[in-house]
Amino acid sequence: MQSCDMFVLLLVSTALFPLGHTSLPLVINTWPFKNATAAAWRALQSGGSVLDAVEKGCGRCQIEQCDGSVGYGGSPDESGETTLDAMIMNGDTMEVGAVADLRRIKNAIGVARAVMEHTDHTLLVGESASVFAENMGFIAEDLTTNNSVNIFSQWLKGNCQPNYRKNVFPDPSKSCGPYKPSATLKQNMRAQHANTHSHDTIGMVALDQDGHLAAGTSTNGLTHKVPGRVGDSPIVGAGAYADSSAGGAAATGDGDLMMRFLPSYLAVELMRAGADPSAACKTAISRIKRHYSEFFGAIICANTTGHYGAACNKVPGFSQFHFMVWNSESDAPRLKSVDCF
Ligand SMILES: *[C@@H]1O[C@H](CO)[C@@H](O)[C@H](O)[C@H]1NC(C)=O
Ligand SMILES: *[C@@H]1O[C@H](CO)[C@@H](O)[C@H](O)[C@H]1NC(C)=O
Ligand SMILES: *[C@@H]1O[C@H](CO)[C@@H](O)[C@H](O)[C@H]1NC(C)=O
Repeated sequence: MQSCDMFVLLLVSTALFPLGHTSLPLVINTWPFKNATAAAWRALQSGGSVLDAVEKGCGRCQIEQCDGSVGYGGSPDESGETTLDAMIMNGDTMEVGAVADLRRIKNAIGVARAVMEHTDHTLLVGESASVFAENMGFIAEDLTTNNSVNIFSQWLKGNCQPNYRKNVFPDPSKSCGPYKPSATLKQNMRAQHANTHSHDTIGMVALDQDGHLAAGTSTNGLTHKVPGRVGDSPIVGAGAYADSSAGGAAATGDGDLMMRFLPSYLAVELMRAGADPSAACKTAISRIKRHYSEFFGAIICANTTGHYGAACNKVPGFSQFHFMVWNSESDAPRLKSVDCF
């Protein structure tokens, strides 16, 4: 072979297999939810798609009730009920399926995928989402557990404090609802400080060897939330975003605030413009920080060559964010951490 031909061959192979692809596939998810990472990885290894990986990974957390913040029996709302939010996004086609305020169905990420694959819609909510799920073959069951009953009864005993109401009448420190709006009694009832254990959504990004990218989330939301409250997790661009031509991201934390900034969308757009994943994550956090310096939150980012990063906002009690990564550089899921700023 002449040297000229060899040169051409080298160019072709570098174009098909850029150096950065060597560590693919990649699974990355928020928090130390290792079994979720492993479930997603196994799905890819057994020939599943990136959507299968995200569904299996988030689904694992729903079954294991990761930190009590994902799946059934966690985060009872003001009426004691656990409701679920989830989303899945196909980064090749930009299709999304999501459910919010889902009742009585355990597998929220599965229902989200059914919304994507069996309707032209993006987001179904509440009772109607549950009816849809039942029609699609998902089993309706009570999501209440002894644990959620305990959390709820303790809260009732404590006069329904803390809660997420503000500017309401009568004096909410002495009674539970129903609440009425008050113009004169300016009572800020916001729960004192977002504690990490009431916000631990799983958010996941999966990228395979051929550059297919998917992202998803699953959560039971916020403990003592006002019924009907939907956080960032099932909102496209807020809880997660995936575009196989740019990257993927998933966020976790104080969803009520974070969803106002579409941090996952922002991070993906920054990576599209060439930003390093860690830098993209940091900018997405900074944007929120500018308005809510005390918000609790973190984000994970991965670009199309499988490079990844994470960032979090430093607040009292939260100076380091842990997340999981599995790529071809290791034979087990690896726990990673990033210092908040
Ligand atoms: C993770 O999976 C292992 C093996 O199936 C199991 O023993 C363990 O309890 C799981 N971890 C959690 C947190 O559920
Ligand atoms: C839940 O509580 C009931 C009674 O309050 C008890 O009989 C049951 O064993 C408990 N279940 C679990 C799993 O602890
Ligand atoms: C992904 O990020 C890494 C690290 O910053 C960078 O070297 C690589 O070129 C990026 N890939 C793409 C496709 O931009």
